[in-house]
Amino acid sequence: MRKLQQQVVANGLASPLIPDQDAELHVDSVSHCWPNGDHVLNRCNLTIQRPGLWMLVGSNGSGKSTLFRLIAGLLQPQSGSIACKKPAALVFQNPDHQLLLPSCGSDLLLGIRSSQSMDQRRDKVEACLDQLGLHGLATRPIHTLSGGQKQRLAIAGALASNAGLLLLDEPTALLDPKSQRTVLSAVHNLCHDPTSPITALWITHRLDELNEADGAAQMSQGRIGPWTTGRELRQRLQSGRSDR
Ligand SMILES: Nc1ncnc2c1ncn2[C@@H]1O[C@H](COP(=O)(O)OP(=O)(O)O)[C@@H](O)[C@H]1O
Ligand SMILES: [Mg+2]
Repeated sequence: MRKLQQQVVANGLASPLIPDQDAELHVDSVSHCWPNGDHVLNRCNLTIQRPGLWMLVGSNGSGKSTLFRLIAGLLQPQSGSIACKKPAALVFQNPDHQLLLPSCGSDLLLGIRSSQSMDQRRDKVEACLDQLGLHGLATRPIHTLSGGQKQRLAIAGALASNAGLLLLDEPTALLDPKSQRTVLSAVHNLCHDPTSPITALWITHRLDELNEADGAAQMSQGRIGPWTTGRELRQRLQSGRSDR
């Protein structure tokens, strides 16, 4: 953790445009303007190291979700470029917007490449459920899950798709405090797994969540500020100071 935090501080001070072998994602001078003339991203730069849990904060309308849609390939950059080592998977604020099939297992199967045998795919489903604390729920109807369980299932679906980067867009905004902590701790554990840690970029409005981040940055006026530790950004925001 300490090493990751040192890395992120160093990275924040360096140019984010320098290619970096350990980077999972490079966003290089990306701009986006909506048809109504709203310039939401303005030569935005971002580099995400792997692995780790990286967090972004920013006021409503500052362009965070637009940036995620660009990284996930749902929108094309109007200028600049985005380089991702492996495809990214989006997790929305509301899991009901992405859980499609009736049971937990069938929903996860949907995201696994069909080139694998059915046994391999079922093993993968079980493994992803286990990783999110949903052991034995493959046949459970999704509508019987709690909000926190649904959100963890959505994250399991992102894992099942073998994405290199999880993009979590305010994943705890609709959850009660206990489910919020469970979801955050599940993702934190995945990002610090001793054998195959993953990389996640997490948008939050809950400042206490920043304590769990390996690095955090603030988005405003279409750009992302320098990386800092989550605790430092939380303290700065709580004391009313901004980096701009
Ligand atoms: N599909 C869209 N068409 C037009 N404007 C949009 C669209 N999606 C988002 N916007 C606008 O882009 C701005 C940034 O939105 P968004 O990326 O959702 O911000 P955030 O996630 O930081 O709250 C807002 O002003 C929003 O109204
Ligand atoms: Mg948003």
